[in-house]
Amino acid sequence: MQIKTVEQYVDTYRKSVADPEGFWSEIAGHFIWKKPWEKVLQYDWDKPEFRWFEGGQLNITENCLDRHLDDKADRTAIIWEPNDPNEEARKITYRELHKEVSRFANVLKKQGISKGDRVCIYLPMIPELAIAVLACARIGAIHSVVFAGFSSKSLATRIDDATCKMLLTADGGYRGTKTIALKEIADKALEISETQSVEKVIVFKRTGQNVDMLEGRDIWWEEALEGASADCPVEVMEAEDPLFILYTSGSTGKPKGIIHTTGGYMVYTAYSFINVFQYNEGDIYWCTADIGWITGHSYIVYGPLLAGATTMMFEGVPTFPDAGRFWQIVEKYKVNQFYTAPTAIRALMKYPLELVQRSDLSSLRVIGTVGEPINEEAWVWYKKNIGNGEVPIIDTWWQTETGGILITTIPGVLHDEPTYAGLPLPGVQPMLFDEMGEEVEGFPSEGRLGIKFPWPSITRGIWGDQERYKRTYFSFENRYFTGDGALRNKRGYYRITGRVDDVIIVSGHNLGTAPIEDVIDDHPLVVETAIVGFPHDVKGNALYAFIILKQNVDEEDELALEINRLIAKKIGPIAKCDKIQFVPGLPKTRSGKIMRRILRKIAAGETSDFGDISTLLNPEVVEKIIQKNSAL
Ligand code: WTA
Repeated sequence: MQIKTVEQYVDTYRKSVADPEGFWSEIAGHFIWKKPWEKVLQYDWDKPEFRWFEGGQLNITENCLDRHLDDKADRTAIIWEPNDPNEEARKITYRELHKEVSRFANVLKKQGISKGDRVCIYLPMIPELAIAVLACARIGAIHSVVFAGFSSKSLATRIDDATCKMLLTADGGYRGTKTIALKEIADKALEISETQSVEKVIVFKRTGQNVDMLEGRDIWWEEALEGASADCPVEVMEAEDPLFILYTSGSTGKPKGIIHTTGGYMVYTAYSFINVFQYNEGDIYWCTADIGWITGHSYIVYGPLLAGATTMMFEGVPTFPDAGRFWQIVEKYKVNQFYTAPTAIRALMKYPLELVQRSDLSSLRVIGTVGEPINEEAWVWYKKNIGNGEVPIIDTWWQTETGGILITTIPGVLHDEPTYAGLPLPGVQPMLFDEMGEEVEGFPSEGRLGIKFPWPSITRGIWGDQERYKRTYFSFENRYFTGDGALRNKRGYYRITGRVDDVIIVSGHNLGTAPIEDVIDDHPLVVETAIVGFPHDVKGNALYAFIILKQNVDEEDELALEINRLIAKKIGPIAKCDKIQFVPGLPKTRSGKIMRRILRKIAAGETSDFGDISTLLNPEVVEKIIQKNSAL
């Protein structure tokens, strides 16, 4: 399964395009299936519908855990590094993980969960989070992990959207010097939940802080586990049964519950993990993401465990106790593959190099990034200082919706090139197209990025809203539309230039502007808001809000702070705006559409050259906004 040379890559890629079914069925054959599939792929772009390994039956945890018990039972599956370096780390072998997952799966059953039920997981980065995810999968419950930095309102929206029957959480969580009151946030979420669908809450004791336990609803994790058997036969799943839902921001309205199913997701995450990270037996692999995001799902939990790898989980933040923490962890465990986000690199490169140089990073063989474009300066710093000038960098492009990495340079096989993600993995057929939807051929070229053939882990839907699924990703014929723009150079390498919709990526987190605007508009003094992104040297992009008020206020700074507090409360601190400007009006077209293009330029500090503004209803407003902007 592992590609080792460029010739092999070219051959494998050709085969994957000429005979996709043959190609993927050979890879799928490496796994345990309870019943073999009848048809590798059936698809219909118009519906849209994608069915991989139809007729096949399996359980993904049998492949993540049971399959390794013969020869890897005593190998470390998970290394957990706590927030506080003085607290003891944990190492969990495959045998232990199998046991813990089975026990917790039995707890879920006993507490009333069965196949198809949705379980919301709102936990910090502790091993129990991975155990909870796998326990759900073992009994066929659909997990919906919500990042433990989200507010009660965001948690409630997600619980309601999927009508989750159970919530798994902790008393609190540690992040650097902060403690987050997870149970308190969860309690509020359950109070405001419209569906009131959650019947049971299981609470892990992490910080020991005081929490309210609601009799009949809330149970301590430890108590729930008492007497739970370590024998839990797997639930037999159809290949197309949903495995999980994971919410991601859209350009409008409420978050989208992205659905992934069992068979295709398993095959793709395992295959991509082994190839993209060139994982070899015994390697120590570390992805710094949170399991609350797709990167953690596919490349902390499923991909690595399917491959029998040793995967690390880090509870803390890169700057605690100091900004050398990542590098000390790399040295401590002799990490071989290190995978992080460009925003983390940009933040860490601001500190003295001494913090890097005190650690021995010679174990590293692959260093990677994901989540947003990595700028050349950060790339060069990463290569030179972390990769000793020679370790290959992988700039991996993919999305929550794609389930796994689609475009990158396989390390040791394809050359890395700053700002270019690289080439498609076998089985992935990217295309560029223009605004009319026409494919743009050749090199060099530029356009919107689409994928013109299904791959096994393509999302199968948006929970409860197949119309939106179709509208968002399949509005152009016979392809999946990514929402990203891209360039292709003469080598065929792709460079992702950023979103072409109203999603802004801030520190690697996708933020839809509409939901944040809605929160601001709810403020009694606000008439209308428009949010755009502007370049930021650490976050990549930051948010700039232009707000029209009902009346002038004396204390604009106070109001700006209040608005940011409101955003943090309703959505989460990650959605706070770096700049807030109160404006007399917003530039609008005659049809009433806000001209965001102009606001983007103003936010980036430009004062002229706004292009064609002849369709503007109120050109005078632009001048007024600029005046106040430069006065800021
Ligand atoms: C962006 C994260 C440039 C892109 C796995 C995509 C990237 C969105 C890269 C998905 C990259 C991700 N270079 N941009 N290597 N990787 N993106 O759903 O805009 O959180 O559409 O998935 O992040 O973000 P998501």
